[in-house]
Amino acid sequence: MPKVYIDDDVFEFEGRPKILEFCLQHGIELPYFCYHPALSIPANCRQCLVEVGQLVLNRETGQPELDAEGKVVVRFFPKLMPSCATEITDGMVVRTHRSSALVRRAQRENLEFILLNHPLDCPICDQAGECPLQELTYKFGPDSSRFEFVKVHKPKRIPLGPRVVLDAERCINCTRCVRFTEEISRSRQLTIIQRGDKNYPFTAPGMSFDDPYSMNTIDICPVGALTSADFRFRARAWEMASTPSICTGCARGCSIYIWTRHNRVERFTPRHNPLVNDYWMCDEGRLSYRRLNENRLDGPHVREFEGLRAASWEESLRRAAHLLRSAPPEQIAVLASASLSLEDLYVIRRLAFEVLGTPHLDFLRHEDPSFEDAFLRLRDRTPNRTGCELVGISPGPDGLPVQQWPQALRDGRLRLVLVFGDDPLGTGAWPVPEAGEWIVASSHWTETASRAQVLLALCTHAEATGCFVNQQGVLQRVRPAKASKGMDRTLVPEMGKSRLDHHATPFDRWWGHEHYFDCRPGWELAQGLMRELGSPVDYTGPEAVFAELAQAIPALRGLSYAAIGLQGVRLDLHPQPVA
Ligand code: SF4
Ligand code: FES
Repeated sequence: MPKVYIDDDVFEFEGRPKILEFCLQHGIELPYFCYHPALSIPANCRQCLVEVGQLVLNRETGQPELDAEGKVVVRFFPKLMPSCATEITDGMVVRTHRSSALVRRAQRENLEFILLNHPLDCPICDQAGECPLQELTYKFGPDSSRFEFVKVHKPKRIPLGPRVVLDAERCINCTRCVRFTEEISRSRQLTIIQRGDKNYPFTAPGMSFDDPYSMNTIDICPVGALTSADFRFRARAWEMASTPSICTGCARGCSIYIWTRHNRVERFTPRHNPLVNDYWMCDEGRLSYRRLNENRLDGPHVREFEGLRAASWEESLRRAAHLLRSAPPEQIAVLASASLSLEDLYVIRRLAFEVLGTPHLDFLRHEDPSFEDAFLRLRDRTPNRTGCELVGISPGPDGLPVQQWPQALRDGRLRLVLVFGDDPLGTGAWPVPEAGEWIVASSHWTETASRAQVLLALCTHAEATGCFVNQQGVLQRVRPAKASKGMDRTLVPEMGKSRLDHHATPFDRWWGHEHYFDCRPGWELAQGLMRELGSPVDYTGPEAVFAELAQAIPALRGLSYAAIGLQGVRLDLHPQPVA
């Protein structure tokens, strides 16, 4: 096998890896700016320079030549080479900053050059705390600047489009953003304008950077030149906690991080997952985080006279069970939602078929053909339709499909609808019926929620643990990123923790009490109803539900939360409903 010598180590390699990628894969940190694993390699920032040479081989023996001291003779290239663009060859010798003073000097002086006209406004820059330029300057840069003249000034706070703001002075011209629009989103909306130290990325005259994936340029910009119009100046990176999760904006289920500050969701950012979304997500999905904060239902409610009043969990579950008992099973319909987790869907299915004994169980399809594109966005706007099919959320024998329920409510064949997590009235899926009673589990105040006799507060996917299967059959798990009322963030092991979470107390003046909602996950609400109706179910948590699911559904056999991990698992999908 061919060999490469990096500093004092010898590595075997296959194929034609680039030095930078190979080093990063083997835990050798090299600084870089313009390189991005998903983009072409322009090698324009010169931050990744290394010394590269070749062993001198004896022409007759083919063995490395030795010098008078018995050391191998290496012929180094006359100049430092960009490691991002240089392929490794057999017998190559690479010296990084770990062994070469020349490389250390190049890294330091290149950073000094990059910072020459950089405004150094880190104290007011959104990128501070998660800025490669800031981090690499600390690690590899000079202690101070030798330049005291006035810096070149360029446009600041320029909206490139509706969602991305440019600060041209901070730009280091790595061209990642331009290459993103050329190679990934293919909108070609950005280019570099001007020349020399005046240049920066911009759109064609009069054009707006309104690419539906434009905000990915904010993530890949290695400085604070491109910032989010939505997120600007709202939170410092070190005050937030990030938790791995998924976007529920469509059936792609892009892997994301949910970022919270004081338990309020502040942003979504994409999480690298080659099985689902690579490094990217769409802008609409990214901005859908707002829904997790707004119009939230806080605690259960019951109808009294014409209005809804807050009630205890005990009272509301008791009232719901009473209503369910008073209707004949064939007049009850259970509507699940394709935005609920597998765990929720499974327990709801058990509630419908095993405890209520109704055959009318189904979910609504929410499709929007105008949302679909050739990249990530899919017309199915629900994250778990495949999960619904897998769990068997469909009418039983003699059960009515969901399309017939509005008519059945009108003509009295159905009397009571139990809705979990959907809003058939507000989304326009159903006409507002004149008849029928409603028990609704909802995370938000919706049109359907406002019709309820009993209203149960449901967690969003940011407050619960559960699994989702995307349209491509990739099973992913979400974790609580946001605590609900009564939960202590520091005591939930999988929840991301910020410095504030660790060190702040509820008695601090700035503590955000208002961002905690009294809600429960769907599986727990379904279990609560089952218990009120006399069924002795006792799941200790979502993991226990998943363990049962993994027994019941062949596609999930052998899986556990640990096996799903952060990246998820591609399922062998032959939908096989529960027996
Ligand atoms: S493509 Fe779909 S899942 Fe991905 S970010 Fe956009 S809405 Fe969310
Ligand atoms: S990362 Fe190699 S030249 Fe920029």
